[in-house]
Amino acid sequence: MAELIVALDVASVKEVERVVDLLGDAVSFYKVGLELFSAEGPGVVAAVKSRGKNVFLDLKLHDIPRTVGRAVKAGASLGVDLMTVHGVGGGAMIRAAKEAALSCGDRAPKILAVTVLTSLDQNDLTDIGVSRDVRGQVEAIGELAFTNGADGIVCSPQEVRHMRTLLGPDALLVTPGVRPEGADVGDQKRVMTPAEAVRDGSTHLVIGRPILEAASPRTAALEILRQMTEGL
Ligand code: C5P
Repeated sequence: MAELIVALDVASVKEVERVVDLLGDAVSFYKVGLELFSAEGPGVVAAVKSRGKNVFLDLKLHDIPRTVGRAVKAGASLGVDLMTVHGVGGGAMIRAAKEAALSCGDRAPKILAVTVLTSLDQNDLTDIGVSRDVRGQVEAIGELAFTNGADGIVCSPQEVRHMRTLLGPDALLVTPGVRPEGADVGDQKRVMTPAEAVRDGSTHLVIGRPILEAASPRTAALEILRQMTEGL
């Protein structure tokens, strides 16, 4: 069964605690991103972990292998369950991330690779010297990451079906860009419903505003979970 990860796109630890307590047992996995982590530091992870929840620490690491390995160990010591690295950091960097994770034994976080940021288009790729088209680059970086030990990738729901075929049954496919039936799509341009994403092979759905901005976040989360089971 795919899991729901609620994106904690809020400003403070206090707000994080309010959201996690409000959602209660409906949600067991949360994403902490770069903005919140930079503002509030490791305490934000501790606040979520102390409530018995899983944490996806989405810092999109990209540095020399030694530094990335050490950052993964630091994340593992906080008890995070999923971490991201940029696939374009290369095979050695991805292996270093995975080896660092494995050295943490029981606390080993799973490593996900980011392939191509959705903010980049074809011209941006050309500007940074990438001659492949966006799709080819997503495939190439996804395969590079997976063959170097990443547990999976972050991808758009539109890419899930294809990446599942390419990477096989074991890859984690973590997808933002999901909107429940009838919801406001916000600034997400290419969206899929929870049922469609699960049907296509997504293992984790990352959803923020449709839950955080709902009149009843708990009801919204439960409805998304219900829609996810329709995709099975
Ligand atoms: O509010 P919403 O459901 O759009 O939140 C989705 C989360 O996933 C946000 O934290 C956003 O930054 C992240 N994300 C995304 N699209 C990507 C990569 C990450 O929406 N391509």
